[in-house]
Amino acid sequence: MIACHNNFLTIEHVGQPVTLQGFVAKRRDLGNLVFVDLRDQHGITQLAFDVDNDLKNIAAALKNEYVIRIQGIVRERSSKNKQIKTGDIEVNVTNLLILNSAAQPPLLIQDDTDALEDTRLKFRYLDLRRPKLQKIMRLRHDMMQAVRGFLNDEDFMEFDTPILTKSTPEGARDYIVPSRVSKGNFYALPQSPQLFKQLLMISGFRKYYQIAKCFRDEDLRSDRQPEFTQIDIEMGFTNQEDVLNVSERLIKHVMRTVHGVHLTEPFPRMTYADAMRLYGSDKPDTRFDMKLVDLSQCFSSTAFNVFKQTLEQGGAIQAINVKEGAARFSRKDLDALTESIKTFGAKGLAFMRFEESVSGSIAKFMSATEIEALQEATAATQGDLVLIVASTLDVVRASLGYLRRHIAKQLGLIDATQFDFTWIIDWPMFEYDTDTARYYALHHPFTRPKDEDKARVESDPDTVLAAAYDLVVQGQELGGGSMRIHEPLMQQSIFNVLGMEEAEQREKFGFFLDALTYGAPPHGGIAFGFDRFVMLLGGTDNIRDVIAFPKTSSAQCLMTEAPSRVDGRQLEELALKKTN
Ligand code: AMO
Repeated sequence: MIACHNNFLTIEHVGQPVTLQGFVAKRRDLGNLVFVDLRDQHGITQLAFDVDNDLKNIAAALKNEYVIRIQGIVRERSSKNKQIKTGDIEVNVTNLLILNSAAQPPLLIQDDTDALEDTRLKFRYLDLRRPKLQKIMRLRHDMMQAVRGFLNDEDFMEFDTPILTKSTPEGARDYIVPSRVSKGNFYALPQSPQLFKQLLMISGFRKYYQIAKCFRDEDLRSDRQPEFTQIDIEMGFTNQEDVLNVSERLIKHVMRTVHGVHLTEPFPRMTYADAMRLYGSDKPDTRFDMKLVDLSQCFSSTAFNVFKQTLEQGGAIQAINVKEGAARFSRKDLDALTESIKTFGAKGLAFMRFEESVSGSIAKFMSATEIEALQEATAATQGDLVLIVASTLDVVRASLGYLRRHIAKQLGLIDATQFDFTWIIDWPMFEYDTDTARYYALHHPFTRPKDEDKARVESDPDTVLAAAYDLVVQGQELGGGSMRIHEPLMQQSIFNVLGMEEAEQREKFGFFLDALTYGAPPHGGIAFGFDRFVMLLGGTDNIRDVIAFPKTSSAQCLMTEAPSRVDGRQLEELALKKTN
């Protein structure tokens, strides 16, 4: 007797007695014959209950999702199903045991369920029975094992760092947890294990990793969850080249062993400045061209008022060339594109169609020389559509960066199977926010400035570049890291630029500044968004598909109904009072 899963039996097993178990996926009653599709995490096997079989009546009472175990004999099917691995055979059932009954499920348990996402999340344990999600969960497991296997072989040690901890700012809000014993004080859930992994380097561990749960109270999007998982890595006595090298080999290993994709070339590197200049984005999708082109020179003596004023105010005029786009975008389409970039602050979108003649929204304001210059700068040929935005540099880049992605998707220019892993390097250290009138660290405050820029950290922060790097693929940020500061004085300088008084530095990071004084080796690392990595290989653009029990976009768990109220006694114990 073979005891096997439901994606195992083939024509080779015909005549053999077998035991199978699983959930009833479908029952078809043909009068003289009852067929049941039996499902488990591996697949489906068809069961047959013949007319002269006593079990046919019991089988007729089976409902979807009943849990059963059967014994029977494998036989060849009369009508084969080429869609599934077991499609040549069926099992003629001789023994049936109902292990459990099941209520009618509120959603169809198959790949193309029509249930609303809210229903799927409320009954997530049923949603997870769907083959599509079962496959993704298996992929997640396989990827996690591949990551562990690679890092273990490279002599990394796996750690687990505290979940109840002190806040480490990474740019988002903390989830805080009140302490009962130390009333009025709070733990924070880690936004990442950043400081702990650095402290482990100071402890003398050279290669750390953790499959780390991170918690960030930030606005959610399709690639962000409040609780997510990182592949977190740190190395001591190291340099940027080593970190990039080991990261690249890790990614290649997972891509090869789990996905069968062999990436042989080194990942290209692009400076942050080039990414912004050419793609208008710090996470450029390089699978298609349509780069941003600067037109300030072409219009340096323009008579067109909008362009003239933009240049006088220090703004920028830039364009993208939509190859063969002239006839593909109607006036209405262009109006819709104009509307779409208003969210980035753009006031308008000018266009030029290069056809037999040149036409477009601003054609009448342009001299023949300007048209020629525009054509040359954008390499426009007959049939092309050039889209132009004039505004501040930030607005121009955000708008055209968005348009190139949007249009490429619309025109089907993107090869979904291409993995364009690219390192973005040489990030600015700081970003000045005019609203709060202060500097923020672009990566995080423990990132090291590039050696050649160290001296200018406090005197000229705007020009300082960081030894920081992001790994970008298909227009997504997959990971980010940096070399770290290992000298206490440099760390204090950074805090100074961030506007942190000495007392605050001591209160928040005293333990860390002290640790840096006891012999901190040069160190650096990186963290990859593990959920995003699974999305990439699972071919989904919704992060909720790759997490077993995800939260909604308003950070709720519809199944357990978390977050929920706690009773008055719990609040009292914590010395907390509700204000509404
Ligand atoms: P960073 O903040 O760039 O770096 O995060 C690293 C990677 O984590 C993923 N990520 C997320 N994934 C899902 N939901 C979220 N809310 C979310 N936020 C981030 C992204 C990102 O690239 N401590 C540093 C790493 C370091 O310097 O070593 C850090 O956390 O894929």
